[in-house]
Amino acid sequence: MKNILLSGKNVCKYFSQNGTEVQILKSVTTDIYEGDFTVIMGASGAGKSTLLYALGGMDSFTGGEVIFKGQSIGKLSENKMAKLRSSEFGFVFQQTHLVSNLTLFENVAVAGYAGKTGDIKEIHEKAGRLLSQMHADNAKDRLPVQVSGGEAQRAAIARAMINSPSLIFADEPTGALNRKNSDDVLKLLTELNSNGQSLLMVTHDVRAAVHGNRILYLEDGQILDELTLSAYNANEEKERAEKVNTWLSSLRW
Ligand SMILES: Nc1ncnc2c1ncn2[C@@H]1O[C@H](COP(=O)(O)OP(=O)(O)OP(=O)(O)O)[C@@H](O)[C@H]1O
Ligand SMILES: [Mg+2]
Repeated sequence: MKNILLSGKNVCKYFSQNGTEVQILKSVTTDIYEGDFTVIMGASGAGKSTLLYALGGMDSFTGGEVIFKGQSIGKLSENKMAKLRSSEFGFVFQQTHLVSNLTLFENVAVAGYAGKTGDIKEIHEKAGRLLSQMHADNAKDRLPVQVSGGEAQRAAIARAMINSPSLIFADEPTGALNRKNSDDVLKLLTELNSNGQSLLMVTHDVRAAVHGNRILYLEDGQILDELTLSAYNANEEKERAEKVNTWLSSLRW
């Protein structure tokens, strides 16, 4: 039996567009399990990012509840939410959002200062270890403008990992990368997951989605269906892609 890490219960979100209220998330209910690599797919504008940000406490929602480890996060003060985000969650986006005047190493380390340990030596050791695990060793003393897109994204993943998060939220982490860098990043995320890291990733790309073991399909602000897969195995990549493509076709993707 898997443990539930995070639950969305009837999560709703309205935006005001040209003076009218538009409902972007329509009562989304789902559980995210510990140890899973959960993927969210759906057409552009379906509400994937909005859902990810609501579940990750990065953005408010209009109705419903998000429960993390038994705690309703919608009611937390901004201060408590920020603490929870920095200690329990990690975030990776399409753009790396690295601080431009800090080296990759410094970017990772600085994120660690906000974490639980507070022990600078320990944080620096861990930052070095993570950058090496992400194969970004050679680039670690360079600024973000002096490294490739792949190196920058791998450093961003190291930054997301620095505080040993319970869950990493990733919004199209391979969206800005070429095929080679994208494959490298997916391989690293899959490696983290096989070592126990829980992940929740939004993607458009079937090549990325096959790395997950569960895929939620969002349409027009609602979860329309979900597909369960076995844990990722590189030897079964083709069969997995076929399975996902067949499922997506049945959803008129
Ligand atoms: N701040 C905002 N104000 C008004 N509408 C918004 C706002 N943010 C998002 N929306 C609208 O909400 C809908 C869902 O947006 P969202 O970014 O979640 O989609 P998405 O599924 O992530 O799309 P994509 O695949 O293009 O990233 C879109 O129609 C978008 O225009
Ligand atoms: Mg999006």
